[in-house]
Amino acid sequence: QTGKFTYDPGFLSTASCNSTITYIDGDKGELLYRGYPIEQLATQCDFLETCYLLLKGELPNAEQRTDFTKLVTNHTMVNEQMQFFLRGFRRDAHPMAVMTGLVGALSAFYHDSTDITNPQHREISAIRLIAKMPTLVAMAYKYGIGQPFIYPKNSLSYSANFMRMMFATPCEEYEPDDVLVRAIDRIFILHADHEQNASTSTVRLCGSSGTNPFAAIAAGVACLWGPAHGGANEAALNMLKDIQRQGGVEKIGEFIKQVKDKNSNVKLMGFGHRVYKNYDPRAKLMRETCHEVLQATGLHDDPLFKLAMALEKIALEDDYFVSRKLYPNVDFYSGIVQSALGIPVSLFTAIFALARTVGWIAQLNEMIGDPEYKIGRPRQLFVGSVARNVKPIGER
Ligand code: SDX
Repeated sequence: QTGKFTYDPGFLSTASCNSTITYIDGDKGELLYRGYPIEQLATQCDFLETCYLLLKGELPNAEQRTDFTKLVTNHTMVNEQMQFFLRGFRRDAHPMAVMTGLVGALSAFYHDSTDITNPQHREISAIRLIAKMPTLVAMAYKYGIGQPFIYPKNSLSYSANFMRMMFATPCEEYEPDDVLVRAIDRIFILHADHEQNASTSTVRLCGSSGTNPFAAIAAGVACLWGPAHGGANEAALNMLKDIQRQGGVEKIGEFIKQVKDKNSNVKLMGFGHRVYKNYDPRAKLMRETCHEVLQATGLHDDPLFKLAMALEKIALEDDYFVSRKLYPNVDFYSGIVQSALGIPVSLFTAIFALARTVGWIAQLNEMIGDPEYKIGRPRQLFVGSVARNVKPIGER
């Protein structure tokens, strides 16, 4: 029992680890980072304050916030050689293929922060990863559209810097709009950590072998790519576009019928969750952000947003979803928000990885920092063949 939280023994028997970082109550739809409700962090803090909280366990005071921001800002550039690694990809390579390669490649440049057992190495690799992910994601985007890379401009905030690296060109400056910068910053906060999800567990298991922090985070990027996990925001938006193409709101009934047909294997992307059996608190905040961004960009009549709200309303009243406790998750609205920000669908999961990097690092450091930790070694329940002898090939 810790504070107000009490766990049933059954839960503890399945828990993969103890952690003090993120608490989720799936039945109540509650999410806390280091005890702070996500609703308060998303509306009263910025992403770098949230990074500081996840890494160090406390929110920074004004001086700590300034120092941490300066530290991260001083590491936003990447080694010039990284662009040649990137140029080895086809222009149409999926950004997550590029990010999986680039993040792992970082370990080739920073020998002073690759020893995961060294607390100083962990500290500096954390700063480098948090600082460089926006630069790498923006480079992957620019490379895909054939535009030159835009260097970070350190007079800007973390999220404004990212938006500028994405949308400025050598011919035209990009003045990030405050509402849009706040929206992307909130997307980063909402995706920063989420307990022992598939990609975080991947990072923990990978890091437990003593590999370097960059390689462990690259493993998390690879796992997050899957459509059942971080790839769901891309899949959710493509699903809305498909319904739109087939006739929009009028066609929702037909689509829902397909979802209910077990043989169709069609899922309502952006709905359902392994833990939340109530509304994902991040989805509520994402829907609000969606509204604000669409107002700010003059897209309030965006048919996809109207379609998403109509689909959500129907699903929340339909017994198939209600009986299975299927509610919208963080990915249902995030795609619409990112589209309205001018971000292409193919980049959504790379942005999820950018945000989740701090959570992966915090979880990895929590494990490695525990003197009792050992290399992960999940076991199995063997249900295969009993011992038998090889027969000569003529008798097989
Ligand atoms: C993320 O773990 C995390 O914390 C992840 C994440 C994070 O921040 O790291 O929150 C990010 O990954 C969010 C989830 C994004 N994925 C999607 O939106 C993809 C669509 N969702 C489904 O693939 C699914 O809901 C999962 C994978 C998320 C959960 O699958 P489960 O564990 O099978 O869900 P369940 O046990 O609650 O399913 C109960 C029933 C099953 O049907 P029956 O066998 O009872 O007939 O509901 C069905 C499922 O088939 N079901 C769905 C559905 N999700 C579950 N049916 C239609 N549409 C869906 N989306």
